[in-house]
Amino acid sequence: MGIDVEGSQVDRLLVARTSRRSLLRFLLNSPLLLPLHVCAFERLLAAMTRGEASAEETREVIVSAADAIDVFDFHAVAKRGLSPAHYTLLSMGVQHEVTLEANREGFERLELRPRRLVDVRDLDTSVEILGEELSCPIILAPAGAQRAFHPEAEIAVARAAKRKDHLQILSTGSSARLEDVIEAREAPIWFQLYTPRAWPVTRRQLKHAETAGCPAVVLTVDAAAAMGETNLDRIHRFRRSKKTDCRACHSRMANAERLLLGAVGVTDSVGFDLADAASDLMVLDWDSVDRIRDATSMKLIVKGILTHEDASLCVEHGVDGLIVSNHGGRTEDSGLATIEALPEIVEAVAGRIPILIDSGFRRGTDVFKALALGASVVCVGRPYLWGLAAFGQEGVEAVLAILRREFEVVMKQMGTPALEAITPAHVRPAACALAD
Ligand code: FNR
Repeated sequence: MGIDVEGSQVDRLLVARTSRRSLLRFLLNSPLLLPLHVCAFERLLAAMTRGEASAEETREVIVSAADAIDVFDFHAVAKRGLSPAHYTLLSMGVQHEVTLEANREGFERLELRPRRLVDVRDLDTSVEILGEELSCPIILAPAGAQRAFHPEAEIAVARAAKRKDHLQILSTGSSARLEDVIEAREAPIWFQLYTPRAWPVTRRQLKHAETAGCPAVVLTVDAAAAMGETNLDRIHRFRRSKKTDCRACHSRMANAERLLLGAVGVTDSVGFDLADAASDLMVLDWDSVDRIRDATSMKLIVKGILTHEDASLCVEHGVDGLIVSNHGGRTEDSGLATIEALPEIVEAVAGRIPILIDSGFRRGTDVFKALALGASVVCVGRPYLWGLAAFGQEGVEAVLAILRREFEVVMKQMGTPALEAITPAHVRPAACALAD
């Protein structure tokens, strides 16, 4: 399977390169277009002929989900198709986007140590976490306001999650009703909780999710001081420069800014009854964690942990699991990559509760590195939203298939037939990281 997959990827790349080369030849031969950028074309053509053009230079905007070679192909389509405000909502980090970049750079500072001559014909990617039997350790991170990216929003994601067999976490800011998402997924989903200031609203949300059959609640704890002016300013600037009137699409303008940010109090999010919710979040502390834990029979997972101190507190406060997350670089500009925060958290938790991780995962190798360092499961955010924005349900399915396939390929390359075989011995700091 791995060989076939790699073979077909190479074939597709060659086809893409050949057609690009034909196009360039045509352009170069066209008398009308000859004066235009001819030097750049010539340079690229020459580089391609010498085999020196990089994969990035040969990346083209795909026209169908089936054409995608990696998840980044969907980014290009999403960027092209979304309005500037919605694209900003999807892609943005905060301030200098140092954390956003650090998340990706963190993976580059780790190298893999492949083991050879292991029989990997029977690959097992399954994992059990908090009572869920997953066929693959990749799940869908919660993301609010998905109707900004595609009219079928969370429903399309749920259908894709069902077809490709991945667990979905639904945001408090969902633009689809919880019950409709569960129906589309045909299986329970996890519920992500933002806590409005008024406790009765939170209690009602918990009851709602519990009654609908959610086995777990994911409490996000990194957003209290987040979604700040930077993001708002950007949205405003885009709106002004593109003369976009958000009222055309969003019904209650009073809350539109918060709506755009997918935060609590949003008006188009119909997943949960947020009537009476103040537009600001409850100030959370460890007493709030205890209170939420005691108010529900659902498993409690805390999302947004980045230090061993807080990981230890999660265990002390009877939390069932934690997600190492910096919200995909959307909440603070700490510059701390989650993959680099992971080892101290794994050490502090010492196997007492499962550790999930997200932020910046784009490749099968990224997933493998996190598992090697001690995470049980990886959540992805933007990649499936790119797929959703690009091609709806089909795009999300393709993103999940690509990530799973890449992960299977790297498992084979590393000589690890099952997840239990993946150990810290399969990673080491990159030489460049040691030199820093
Ligand atoms: C998010 N994220 C998020 N997290 C959360 O707990 N509740 C939410 O409502 C949202 N909303 C949201 C919207 C959008 C558009 C994005 C991109 C992200 C954060 C999300 O769950 C996850 O932590 C990050 O997306 C992971 O990083 P990557 O994979 O996007 O790099």
